[in-house]
Amino acid sequence: MTGRAYGRGVNSYDLVVVANRLPVSAERLPDGSWAWRRSPGGLVSALDPVLEPESTVWVGWSGVPREDGDSSAPSGLDAPGIGPCALHEVPLTGADVEAFYEGFSNSTLWPLYHDAIATPVYHRHHWTPYVEINQRFAREVAGLAAEGATVWVHDYQLQLLPQMLRERRPDLKIGYFLHIPFPPAELFLQLPWRGEIVTGLLGADLVGFQTPGGAENFRSIAARLLDSERNGPDVVAPDGRTVHVEAYPISIDSAAYDGRARAPRTIERASELRAELGNPKHLLLGVDRLDYTKGIDVRIKAMTELFASGALDPEDTVFVQIATPSRENVEEYQRLRAEIELMLGRALADHGTISARPIHYLYRPLDPDELAAFYRAADLMLVTPYRDGMNLVAKEYVASRVDEDGALVLSEFAGAAVELEDAFLVNPYDAEQVKRVVVEALEAGPSDLRRRMSSMRAQVINHDVARWSQSFLDDLANA
Ligand code: ADP
Ligand code: F6P
Repeated sequence: MTGRAYGRGVNSYDLVVVANRLPVSAERLPDGSWAWRRSPGGLVSALDPVLEPESTVWVGWSGVPREDGDSSAPSGLDAPGIGPCALHEVPLTGADVEAFYEGFSNSTLWPLYHDAIATPVYHRHHWTPYVEINQRFAREVAGLAAEGATVWVHDYQLQLLPQMLRERRPDLKIGYFLHIPFPPAELFLQLPWRGEIVTGLLGADLVGFQTPGGAENFRSIAARLLDSERNGPDVVAPDGRTVHVEAYPISIDSAAYDGRARAPRTIERASELRAELGNPKHLLLGVDRLDYTKGIDVRIKAMTELFASGALDPEDTVFVQIATPSRENVEEYQRLRAEIELMLGRALADHGTISARPIHYLYRPLDPDELAAFYRAADLMLVTPYRDGMNLVAKEYVASRVDEDGALVLSEFAGAAVELEDAFLVNPYDAEQVKRVVVEALEAGPSDLRRRMSSMRAQVINHDVARWSQSFLDDLANA
């Protein structure tokens, strides 16, 4: 199968962004037609605001399988204004999705790169399609990029693409950015195809990671596996090229979050939300994709125990968890959903009363204005992943606290903790510490909260996503 181009077409784009997903995903409406909705996750949130519509094409998958000759497959991707730039679909069949996306990407690489929180599976029948689909992306990109164009490859689903693309199109400038953590040798070396992955990544001119720790893990693993030289931050690829390896902490469109938080409609909606929740003394919030890396269970457990011990009063405290559905066909995610909903149901049964409902759970994506109102309304944001590449939600909360109030409780294992040192940092594995810090943050005085929030805001406002993409693309141009 070949891809579908909606835009200028063959070999005409100066910048090609490649990610497993397009920035919009197809959704079937009850009348059989297709709607395109913004794709979930941090990658799209980050890239969306920085793309130049004129000269850029985004290459990726529509989010639903497309079988050969299927006339009812998603359509309408070419309608004006659907995406931030031209879009080019790489079709995946149901079998591809199962082996490449649900299999190798999300049952092998995702858990392995997140500290093996869930046990990674190593299946040869997942690896072969991973190779084939990376080749499919290489073929499509090679047909779209102009002579000497820049290609920016994103994330763990496409780690073989840089080298495959270099073989087809040595004229291209190829950058690669990993949005998730890059693990230490103790974990990465489990991967039966570790040499292939490292060689694939070193096809790029520049390889970027979220944190200095991830970049250093990669440099040392690459040098060890390929028995190659290291030259400061650079690694020598098997073909003798020098590849620059560096940390580029991703960020958000900070001014947009700041502006949305100041809008009168957001302020009004935030106070409406508080009123609808019974005007609690303390409003705590969690916002995540429903993923086992996010530590949603950590928060529910902490809240339940704090209610049970009397440290927090369910009559005047409300915890709202908003979760976006994610990877619903992968077994671990189905298990997680059942587990979270059981925990929430028990917590509510034990601590809710006829007059008080201390826990609310929404299992759906919110639109940006509603999310902004939640960020503004919450006294405390709970971001407690066991491991996270960055975590944009933490930065979005900070950018939305325009009055420099509110507390951020943040896992030290989120990439964001490197920059947001003034958050209330926690080890999500230490349940007692999480509880202690939640209470400490709720009791913190206004001057302590202001000191912390103003320093975090300065960081997030000054290091926004435009700066992130510009510094990556500048370094790529010079690589
Ligand atoms: P990940 O990339 O692992 O999903 P991030 O925290 O980096 O995690 O990014 C998640 C992005 O998805 C953020 O921009 C956040 O605002 C958005 N998001 C998460 N949950 C929801 C939700 N329920 N409704 C709307 N947006 C959400
Ligand atoms: O940031 C990690 C990531 O896998 C991104 O690639 C994507 O933005 C997000 O999580 C959502 O994942 P998926 O595309 O599997 O729904």
